[in-house]
Amino acid sequence: MKIGIPKEIKNHEYRVAITPAGVVELIRHGHQVFIETQAGLASGYSDEEYQKVGATLLATASLVFESSELILKVKEPQEEEYKYLTSQHTLFTYLHLASSLDLTKALINSQATCIAYETVQEDDNSLPLLVPMSQVAGRIAIQEGARFLLKPNGGKGILMGGVTGVLPARVMIIGSGIVGIEAAKMALGLGAKVTILDVNLNRLREVEEILPTVNTLYSTQLNIAKEIVDTDLVIGAVLITGGKAPKLVTRDMLKTMEKGSVIVDVAVDQGGCIETCKPTTHENPVYEVEGIIHYGVANIPGAVPFTSTQALTNATLPYVLQIANKGWTQAIQDNKALEKGVSIVHGNLVYEKLSEDLNLPYTSLDKLL
Ligand SMILES: NC(=O)c1ccc[n+]([C@@H]2O[C@H](COP(=O)([O-])OP(=O)(O)OC[C@H]3O[C@@H](n4cnc5c(N)ncnc54)[C@H](O)[C@@H]3O)[C@@H](O)[C@H]2O)c1
Repeated sequence: MKIGIPKEIKNHEYRVAITPAGVVELIRHGHQVFIETQAGLASGYSDEEYQKVGATLLATASLVFESSELILKVKEPQEEEYKYLTSQHTLFTYLHLASSLDLTKALINSQATCIAYETVQEDDNSLPLLVPMSQVAGRIAIQEGARFLLKPNGGKGILMGGVTGVLPARVMIIGSGIVGIEAAKMALGLGAKVTILDVNLNRLREVEEILPTVNTLYSTQLNIAKEIVDTDLVIGAVLITGGKAPKLVTRDMLKTMEKGSVIVDVAVDQGGCIETCKPTTHENPVYEVEGIIHYGVANIPGAVPFTSTQALTNATLPYVLQIANKGWTQAIQDNKALEKGVSIVHGNLVYEKLSEDLNLPYTSLDKLL
């Protein structure tokens, strides 16, 4: 199969969809790889490295799309890229469509087949292609939260770990999945006092076992409202797979927090779980509402491409190979986890939760196969 990798163009997005090691595997299986020049540079991979392992370099994104059947990306197509997608393409990337009606409509209009990394889901409900980036995002969320708690950065001026005789910062993490646990580990490592909330009691039991010094709390509006009063740093880390995040922290709750406290809404890519949160960029990551600093970067792992690009390829490669070796229709019949990633097929929205959230017509995938 002809596989294309364009350079990522989202604001401060430095990852690339495949490492040279991944290209070796694709070529070994008889596929052709087209990669845009300089696509891997910010992740530490030169054009020469890709060329050496057999990839063909192309000067523009337009040439990559024209030459390829399977397009591998990291982030959702940006507006400038919509025009390149046609019915010849299978697009495999993070899409996070629940947070963008415009993008969803553009992909429907493109007639391409779109498979979302983040909804590929194994029988045990795990999300193998979201996990590595959630690990990265959970860890960075605390680093960024700690940074914006510093007075020169607009924060209240509190040290995460406190110091002898002075209490540490208080961190509230909403959602105890991958992002939540990684954030908890980092916050504990810095010496903060951590409370983690979830509606899944089994998850909270696991948290207690792995991280016995973390306080667990069942997630309800009332519990969040009570806990947030004494919180310096809130991490939003909930997920309803494929759907919009529920709004769990309201504007009224912000008024009860101390000024200069910080909220990092990692779930912003699914619409955010904080009422006042909106997507921001690495260039302008924060803004203030009711005296509370909001951080809403939707591509957090893009800031550490040396780590993220390798972690992403490690996770995506087995699925990319299945799509490339068999074609997407056979691949999803053989792999039910991959089938759950299929969002749009030739102008039809086939992910039911998404059609409910975005109020768009739904077509059953079975009907199209
Ligand atoms: N901003 C970024 O760059 C970035 C990067 C990676 C992941 N993410 C996002 O972070 C979010 C979390 O991802 P994850 O991999 O940790 O998901 P996950 O599925 O591992 O965990 C989500 C958790 O949220 C819990 N939850 C659901 N409803 C809840 C509620 N009402 N109250 C409390 N908890 C609730 C679930 O029970 C689950 O434990 C997702 O939206 C994901 O897309 C963002």
